[in-house]
Formats: sequence, structure tokens, C-alpha cells
Amino acid sequence: MPATDGTQTHFGFHTVDLDDKQAMVDEVFHRVARRYDVMNDLMSGGLHRVWKDVMVTALNPPRDDRPFAVIDAAGGTGDVAFRIAEAGGAGTRVVVCDINPDMLAVGRARARERGLDGIVTFVAGNAESLPFPDRSFDACTIAFGIRNVPRIDLALGEFHRVLRPGSRFLCLEFSTVDVPGLDALYDLYSFNVIPALGRAVAGDAKPYRYLVESIRRFPQPQAFADMIAAAGFRRVSHRALTGGVVALHSGWRL
Ligand SMILES: C[S@@+](CC[C@H](N)C(=O)[O-])C[C@H]1O[C@@H](n2cnc3c(N)ncnc32)[C@H](O)[C@@H]1O
Repeated sequence: MPATDGTQTHFGFHTVDLDDKQAMVDEVFHRVARRYDVMNDLMSGGLHRVWKDVMVTALNPPRDDRPFAVIDAAGGTGDVAFRIAEAGGAGTRVVVCDINPDMLAVGRARARERGLDGIVTFVAGNAESLPFPDRSFDACTIAFGIRNVPRIDLALGEFHRVLRPGSRFLCLEFSTVDVPGLDALYDLYSFNVIPALGRAVAGDAKPYRYLVESIRRFPQPQAFADMIAAAGFRRVSHRALTGGVVALHSGWRL
């Protein structure tokens, strides 16, 4: 895999100009938005629900009516936001901030169906330059979003900026499988079954090939923890879920 200089990054296994990556990512999510949630269930065998619930349990939103404002960055169709809103008390509010209007439109419709209008709100915005004032949230979550962002360091800096001191950042992302045997099986599944599922169910294998390749390009858990610390977060930790298929990173703005 070719190394990148400061003006380049990866789009899956391809080396691309930093300035070109976002448009390519946007095209992927424009294509998958309508089928996004059903594909998540199919591809992960429902496991994404368990991983998201682990993150919401770690977040532990207050059950009473204390105000608790959460930003779910790259929150797409609102899956994590709905879980937080349902776990929290009457004071919990979640803002889903995502760059893709198609994902947000699906999310808004889902919020209406669930009666969560006004509790979960949807805002278009780039994680690299969030449209919110400093210190305006009590928690920040991001699930399966950060690897899509071209300049991860800028996004982490933004998450830190919009958090109030004493609040928590949690990031769920695909990671590195570290269980012998499971790694080979996981490779076989990722590179063969997932694109085939994409072709069969969504009529297009390409976005799902990007998904698999981008997972392999993402930094190792400790390297990503170091990036979170470099953005100013303290007490940074991470834990592997499902043999390292996914990692949950945590940091505090102190
Ligand atoms: C794999 S989806 C995750 C959606 C949701 N968090 C979930 O777990 O179901 C990745 C999301 O990241 C969003 N995204 C990509 N680049 C972004 C950026 N620079 N700023 C904000 N959102 C971004 C995409 O539009 C997409 O909705």
C-alpha cells in the first residue's frame, strides 16, 4: 500500500488527494442511504445493534430530567441517537450531525415514525468544522463514521471544542481482528460475502467494497487512541469488541 504525503489520504485501498476524498465518501452514502439500515443488519448479522448498545451503556445518559445534550457526529440515519434518546431521561436531547443530506432525510423520517421529533434533531454539517459553538454539548458520540472523514485530526479537535469540560467522547469503529483463525474467516467474509450482499440486495457492490477496504486502512487501536489524546482528550482508553472486529474508544474533555 503506498504511503501518503500530507496532501493525500486513502479512499479504501486507493490513494487519493485529501481534497477529493469527501466527495467520494458522499457518493457512497448517497447510493446506500435508502438501504443503509437493512444492509447494516444483514452484513453484521444484527451485531451492530449490540455494539451500539455497548456504547450507549458506556455513555450512561441520566435517567432523570437533568438536561443532557449529546452530539452524535456522522450520525447518519439516527440509529445511535435513537438509542441514546430511549436510554436517557426527559432532559436528554441528541443532535445528529452528518454531512450527507440523503442519510439525514432517512433519519428525519425515522424520528417522526418513532415519535422522537424534537428530542432527536438532524443538522447538516462536516465533522471537520462543526456548526456549533464551543462547549455546547455534554457528550459526543460517533459510530462507524470517523474512518470516512478525510482529516481525522481536525474532526477530533472539533469534538473536543464543542464539549463542555467534564464530558465524554465515545467512538465506535471497525478495528483489527486479533484472534487467530477468526482473522482469516473475517477476511473471507469481508472481501467475498459483503460485496456480494451489496450486489444482491442493494444492486451495487462498489460501496460495500469501499466499506471493507476502508476498515483495513483505519489506524490500529493504540495509534487511534494516541490521535484522540493528541486532540486534547484525557484518560483515553479503548476496548475490543467481538475479537477486535470493532473497538470502542473513550476520552474525556477535562
Ligand atoms: C457508516 S455511516 C454511520 C452512520 C451511523 N453513525 C450509524 O452507525 O449507523 C457513516 C456516516 O458518516 C458520514 N460522514 C462521512 N464523512 C463525514 C464528515 N466529514 N462529516 C460528517 N459526517 C460524515 C456519512 O455521511 C455517513 O452517514
